[in-house]
Amino acid sequence: MTASVNVPLNSRGKLAATLPAEQLAEITALFEFRRTGHSLDAPFYTDSTIFKIDMEAIFGQHWIFAASTAELPEPGDYVTVDYGPYSLIVLRNDDGGVNILHNVCRHRGARVLTDAAGTTGNLVCGYHSWTYSPEGNLIHASAPGETKFDKGCFGLKRAHGREVAGLIFACIADEPPADFDETAKIFEPYLAPHDLSKTKIAYQQNIIEEGNWKLVMENNRECYHCDGHPELACSLFPTWGLTEGLIPAHLQEVWDRNKEAQSTLEDRCRRYGLPYEVVEQLDTRIAGIRISRESLDGDGESFSPDGHRLSKKLLGDLRDFRLGRCSMHLQPNSWFHFLGDHVVTFGVFPINEHQTLVRTTWLVADDAVEGIDYDPEKLTYTWKQTNLQDKAFVELCQQGAGSPAYEPGPYMKSEYQVEAFINWYVQRVQEHLA
Ligand code: FES
Ligand SMILES: [Fe+2]
Repeated sequence: MTASVNVPLNSRGKLAATLPAEQLAEITALFEFRRTGHSLDAPFYTDSTIFKIDMEAIFGQHWIFAASTAELPEPGDYVTVDYGPYSLIVLRNDDGGVNILHNVCRHRGARVLTDAAGTTGNLVCGYHSWTYSPEGNLIHASAPGETKFDKGCFGLKRAHGREVAGLIFACIADEPPADFDETAKIFEPYLAPHDLSKTKIAYQQNIIEEGNWKLVMENNRECYHCDGHPELACSLFPTWGLTEGLIPAHLQEVWDRNKEAQSTLEDRCRRYGLPYEVVEQLDTRIAGIRISRESLDGDGESFSPDGHRLSKKLLGDLRDFRLGRCSMHLQPNSWFHFLGDHVVTFGVFPINEHQTLVRTTWLVADDAVEGIDYDPEKLTYTWKQTNLQDKAFVELCQQGAGSPAYEPGPYMKSEYQVEAFINWYVQRVQEHLA
């Protein structure tokens, strides 16, 4: 589906406007003649100018997932979020809101905060000690002999911040896309019962994948490769993404078990008033989303070898562990699994055209006690293994895209969500360049 959605017509980026006409024409043609139903041409994964366009048209325009509430519960808590050329400070303010500030000193541009996370009062640049309030106002700059220096003109640049159901989003565009409100209305009721405001970080993992950010997102949109995930396949039915008629013989028994488990789960959801229906709007809106609640194998509770819970404490007001996984994919840079006993968030932060940081965070109830209610090793095992396997798959594709022998190959039926993600990406960039 390639329905078009509206963005302001004046959104053409600075970069596109400054590219030599010939180069812009070449890049525009790559988008225009993209072969639908096929993977992208190699430059989309390897070209540094297209990466810059991605940073401007996608990461510079859209709401990106930055962190969860558990990462900054108290006033003064912050995380720094880096992607492409950007570094943002995501800071919990005294009013309980979130300030998003560009982490670029207004004196000579030094990074103001250099740690990945921490707690701060005022923000002091380490170079010449210019000092900013948590709102980004410049409140102190020793400027001997300066008479015409107006501190009011040199606050840290601010960006937009939103918190929905305990997930924090940032948008650095002057005017963020308005349809995020509608997307938020879709996912908020699914996530709210898990109450992220009462969770804490059990573990956070940062891995750098030697692959373009789009390959990371593409890989997440299909389970065609799930034979490569033996640990995950214990709990997540490896028939994900398939429909009746597409089931290979070796998965028929799993498919039947999955159908039965899904029907039991849906009964349970109706009893508890939990939404479970699939909402799939990956290429029909600006803030592309897929969300659903789906069954897990075995006990149906968590990502463990037998599907049994990995934390003894239920999240939020949930009354049952057997809630499968509420899974959300949110474009451009995140996916999530909300379970009865824990939550896993995944943030994708591009570094350059061939490297991407993937940040995985495991959250448990804030009163769960490590070693008693959960074992971090067991809690994280399945997704740590899965992440390593996915990293390897992404890197194989990146290597292939760098070969002169590479040409786009066809997406299979079970990869329709990959195609939808790519449709979304192509539309977004084309509208930006128009
Ligand atoms: S660069 Fe920050 S105070 Fe000089
Ligand atoms: Fe995978």
